[in-house]
Amino acid sequence: MKFITDVAPNFIITSNIFLLAVTNIHAANILFYIGGISTHSHRAGLEPLANKLAQNGHNITFFSPLKPIESHPNVTNFCPPGLKAFNDKFQHSFGVIGMQSRLKSKYAADLVSDYGTFMFDMGYSICEVIFKSKEFQKWVKESSFDLVVLDRSSIPDCIYGLAHKFGAKTISYTPISFILPWDSLTFGIPTESWWLPTAGWTK
Ligand SMILES: *[C@@H]1O[C@H](CO)[C@@H](O)[C@H](O)[C@H]1NC(C)=O
Ligand SMILES: *[C@@H]1O[C@H](CO)[C@@H](O)[C@H](O)[C@H]1NC(C)=O
Repeated sequence: MKFITDVAPNFIITSNIFLLAVTNIHAANILFYIGGISTHSHRAGLEPLANKLAQNGHNITFFSPLKPIESHPNVTNFCPPGLKAFNDKFQHSFGVIGMQSRLKSKYAADLVSDYGTFMFDMGYSICEVIFKSKEFQKWVKESSFDLVVLDRSSIPDCIYGLAHKFGAKTISYTPISFILPWDSLTFGIPTESWWLPTAGWTK
């Protein structure tokens, strides 16, 4: 996969430079964000980095509807209850109902068959759920972060606004093998037509 070979080494190099840089300077307040379109593997890919940074003395908060896979005593977990309910519903519609439709047709791509419009709308709904939450509003007032790490595939667009409020830098990455249509702008990677059909983008 061209995307993986292009982007994964960059992410690893960037992460290593980042680890070297912050380890030598100061303990940072870091927020890891995975939103309301997420499953076990989203957290499995990111959690080791969060735990390692916590082990090295950084103050880590994991904002995610997913439970820790390996709990770390120095990592604070936070999730507005509404976001957890949203993600549970998503996991049912995508995981259970989506799998049934893919078993009927290998071309079924419920989430992306409309070129991502449906997912963009979901992203909007996720932000609405988060920002309206009383628990979230209280948490924002009490929190401060130097860095926000965002899983792009969980459609975290509104969290850039939160990073702006905190005056935090951001690291965006995607753990999936294709990019969402509007992520070509985020990453500056053209949506190449030759690999999109293999990701189930078009029928
Ligand atoms: C938790 O952080 C402290 C430093 O703040 C560190 O000494 C300790 O080893 C960390 N605990 C773990 C389990 O990594
Ligand atoms: C570490 O993070 C927690 C949770 O966000 C926060 O309550 C606490 O004040 C932070 N500690 C420091 C030293 O910044």
